[in-house]
Amino acid sequence: MSRRKQIYEGKAKILYEGPEPGTLVQYFKDDATAFNAQKKATLQGKGVLNNRISEHIMVALGRVGIPTHFIKRLNMREQLIRKVEIIPLEVICRNVAAGSMSKRLGIEEGEPLPRAIVEFCLKDDKLGDPLVAEEHVTAFGWASPSEIDELIAMTLRINDFLQGMFFGIGIRLIDFKIEFGRLYDGDMMQILLADEISPDSCRLWDLETNKKLDKDRFRRDLGEVTEAYAEVATRLGIMKDNPGPVTKLSVVRNEKSDED
Ligand code: TMP
Repeated sequence: MSRRKQIYEGKAKILYEGPEPGTLVQYFKDDATAFNAQKKATLQGKGVLNNRISEHIMVALGRVGIPTHFIKRLNMREQLIRKVEIIPLEVICRNVAAGSMSKRLGIEEGEPLPRAIVEFCLKDDKLGDPLVAEEHVTAFGWASPSEIDELIAMTLRINDFLQGMFFGIGIRLIDFKIEFGRLYDGDMMQILLADEISPDSCRLWDLETNKKLDKDRFRRDLGEVTEAYAEVATRLGIMKDNPGPVTKLSVVRNEKSDED
């Protein structure tokens, strides 16, 4: 598929060496996994949608002053990103109880939380990305105390922005997972938002009907997964001019593709 050197392959994305030092190419696959890859499928068009949705969100966050790894989209499935040292934590932010929090604490799904809650999970597939306390994070050196403060502050800013952005298109942001990386420049180090933000990594419910517009459709066998992702893209105004090859989806009407 590519002559470029592959740096890493994850469950939903591949990273290739970028055209310039300090850059990588992030390729979005159609593969979907859940429950630590015990459940797998290929969802045609998902990678294209997530590439576009993540681009849209990263650009918007950049405009309000959140530093991100995103440089530019290259084609339907790839974006150029800054190479960072990934902090081995999945940072989860929750506004409404759902998923593992509902299960762990016995709170009914859909129950609004008293305030936004930030959680850390160790990024380790072999261990199933276990929830960890800040004490573990600092004791094992995954991040320093000042980095934790910065991760929490950035996550809450991202949450505020995303909640408003999604509310404006009739969607409730229930929770999301993000990852961060360190960018070194001489003696200076900056923390950037990395990875992706897409319906794979968020819970998004329609404001009126509570219809799930995210990866829970796959996890819970609700069907019409890519259709829901395309609905999010359409509401974000992304699919108007360039929907790409997912023409099968009813919500996507434009036939043009810019895939390389
Ligand atoms: P959880 O309720 O299953 O812990 O998920 C919380 C949020 O994190 C939800 O928006 C889905 C997202 N998430 C990921 O992006 N990757 C994962 O591996 C898991 C378990 C959750």
